[in-house]
Amino acid sequence: MNIRPFDFSEADYQAFAAVREAAHPEAPLDMAQMKHLDRTRGQSDIMERFLLEQAGQVVGVLEYATPYYDPRPGALEVRYHLRPEAQALEAPLWEFLLAQLAPHQPRELQAQVRENWPEFRFLLTQGFAEVERRWESVLDLQHFDAHPFIRPLPPGIALRPLGELPWQEVAFQQALYELEIELLGDVPSREPITPWPFEVWRERTLQDPNLLPEGYFLALEGPKMVGVTMLFRSNRPQTLRTGLTGVRASHRRQGIAWALKLRAIEFARSYGVRYIRTSNHQINRPMLAINEALGFVKEPAAVFLRLSPVPQRPG
Ligand SMILES: CC(C)(COP(=O)(O)OP(=O)(O)OC[C@H]1O[C@@H](n2cnc3c(N)ncnc32)[C@H](O)[C@@H]1OP(=O)(O)O)[C@@H](O)C(=O)NCCC(=O)NCCS
Repeated sequence: MNIRPFDFSEADYQAFAAVREAAHPEAPLDMAQMKHLDRTRGQSDIMERFLLEQAGQVVGVLEYATPYYDPRPGALEVRYHLRPEAQALEAPLWEFLLAQLAPHQPRELQAQVRENWPEFRFLLTQGFAEVERRWESVLDLQHFDAHPFIRPLPPGIALRPLGELPWQEVAFQQALYELEIELLGDVPSREPITPWPFEVWRERTLQDPNLLPEGYFLALEGPKMVGVTMLFRSNRPQTLRTGLTGVRASHRRQGIAWALKLRAIEFARSYGVRYIRTSNHQINRPMLAINEALGFVKEPAAVFLRLSPVPQRPG
């Protein structure tokens, strides 16, 4: 077995995607998103990625990095995948990883895996503990009927897509950022997240290659933004992916989330896709209630794992 650094060439991205496809054909890599995440890494972020070769073929991938969505100090997020025929290389790959980590002296390691993946069982045997779970779920629009869900919008509320609003203007972007940060703070999860600074959010969200300004909806009360839902392009065939959905606390339980979700579904249909995917914390009852009623079907959960303290190996 030979382990070499990832060189960020197109060939290495393709090799990474091929391993992921072989390991988890049901969850293929979103290459456009991966490249965007790589391009928008902060200067002080740690990010090391490796390819594992056997007999000249790339059979595994490994990476550790400053957590992208919650960059807390001292934490590194670990990700690896192996082709099924190379699964036995898990243990030596793990030893390699621990030795590589030594100079960084992380206080904790994080990982996000599906509950049915071999990585889940292996990381548990290495001492990782489960922190929380998210349901990945999918709605098939072929047989979806919106009629039972349609209700009038509360007076004074209008729904508009980003594409019809001045979203290139900084003042508008700041208001949108403020809305999203407030709503993210309200998402029920085990631990509060560390929000991105405005400039980082702007680059990562508004320059996301999967952004669809016509599929990103705001609920407005006059000029005030009170709710949001958004659909992004997906690497999966016939699919759009849901981002954040939320309504300000002052405007909840008036049917605004229903209206936003139905508007997004209507957009997805006109865009010509069959599926909408989403991901929700298992303790987020309000959001799950909406998605369950709409008919989203749950897949194996995504589990967030943590290891602390991190075992020491000579670097
Ligand atoms: C989830 C959320 C978007 C719902 O917004 P909302 O505008 O209040 O929702 P609606 O008024 O359209 O309600 C739709 C349905 O959601 C469910 N629901 C909403 N709030 C609920 C609550 N507190 N408890 C249980 N069910 C709830 C109900 O089924 C409701 O239907 P009903 O009114 O017929 O009972 C809102 O609570 C929110 O912004 N939460 C914080 C952000 C968040 O967690 N977003 C999801 C991240 S993936």
